[in-house]
Amino acid sequence: MGQLLRWTAATAAPQVEVALTHENVKLIANALGTPPPDVLNEVHGAGRLVAALCGAAKHARAHRDAGVDIVIAQGTEGGGHTGDVGSMVLWPEVIDAVPDTPVLAAGGIGTGRQMAAALAMGAQGVWTGSLWLTVEEAETPPSQMESYLAAGSRDTVRSRAWTGKPARMLRNDWTEAWAAEDTPDPLGMPLQFMVTSDAVARGHRYSEQAKDVMFNPAGQIIGRLNEVRRVKDVIYDLVEECIDTSERLAQLMQDSGS
Ligand SMILES: Cc1cc2nc3c(=O)[nH]c(=O)nc-3n(C[C@H](O)[C@H](O)[C@H](O)COP(=O)(O)O)c2cc1C
Repeated sequence: MGQLLRWTAATAAPQVEVALTHENVKLIANALGTPPPDVLNEVHGAGRLVAALCGAAKHARAHRDAGVDIVIAQGTEGGGHTGDVGSMVLWPEVIDAVPDTPVLAAGGIGTGRQMAAALAMGAQGVWTGSLWLTVEEAETPPSQMESYLAAGSRDTVRSRAWTGKPARMLRNDWTEAWAAEDTPDPLGMPLQFMVTSDAVARGHRYSEQAKDVMFNPAGQIIGRLNEVRRVKDVIYDLVEECIDTSERLAQLMQDSGS
C-alpha cells in the first residue's frame, strides 16, 4: 500500500526519517460516539485494533458491546471534545464498568506522577494530547505556540463555539463573544463548524493577526507547558517520573511495614 505521510522526527542526530505507511498503522481511534459496525468490521478485517474515546461509563459499555478493543476514558480536563466528569472520578468508573477491556486514561496527563496515578487506578496505559502541542516537532504556528506557552491551567474553557459540541480550548475573544448573553447559542454539530471552519483555516494562515480569536484546542495541563521541548525529552521525563513515583510508593509501603 502507498505511503500515507512522512514524518521527520528531530529526536536524534542525525535526523531519523520515519515513514508511516498503511502497513504499520496498528490502531484506529474513534471519538464522538461508538464506531458503527461497518467501520469496526473494516478496521478489524485489516488486522488492526479499534480504540474509542468516552467521557462516561455508559459510553464505555456501548463501545465494549460494539466490539471496540480499547476504551479511552477522557476526563473533562482534556483538550478537544470532552465530557464533564473529571479524570479522578471518571477513570476508575470506566475501568470498573468494562473490566475485561483495556482502558487508557486520558485528560490532564502531563507528568509521570499523573501517569502513575492512572496506572494505580487500573488503567492499562495513558493517552495524551495537549502535551504535544508545545513540542519542537509540532506544527503549531508561532503565535499560537506563544498562546499555549503563556496559558495557565485556568485559561481553558469548555465551549461549543467552534464545533457545536463541547470542546476544551483556550479562552479568548472568540469564546467570550459566543458566551455573551446577547449572542445566539452556537449551532449543533456539524452546523456550527460550517459557520466557523473558514475562520479556523484563516486563523492558521494568519496566526499573528488572528491571535485573539484563534481556535486553540487545549486541556488544562497546558498550564504546565511553559517551554518548547523535544518529544524525546518529554517521553523520557514521563517515564522516569512514573518509575520514581512507583518506587516512592513501594518504599512508603515498606516503611509502613505492610
Ligand atoms: C489539539 C487537539 C486536537 C484533538 N483532536 C482530536 C481528534 O481529532 N480526535 C480525537 O479522538 N481526539 C482528539 N483530541 C483529544 C486527544 O485525543 C486526547 O484524548 C486528549 O487530548 C487527552 O487529554 P489531554 O489534552 O489532557 O492530554 C484532541 C486534543 C487536542 C489537544
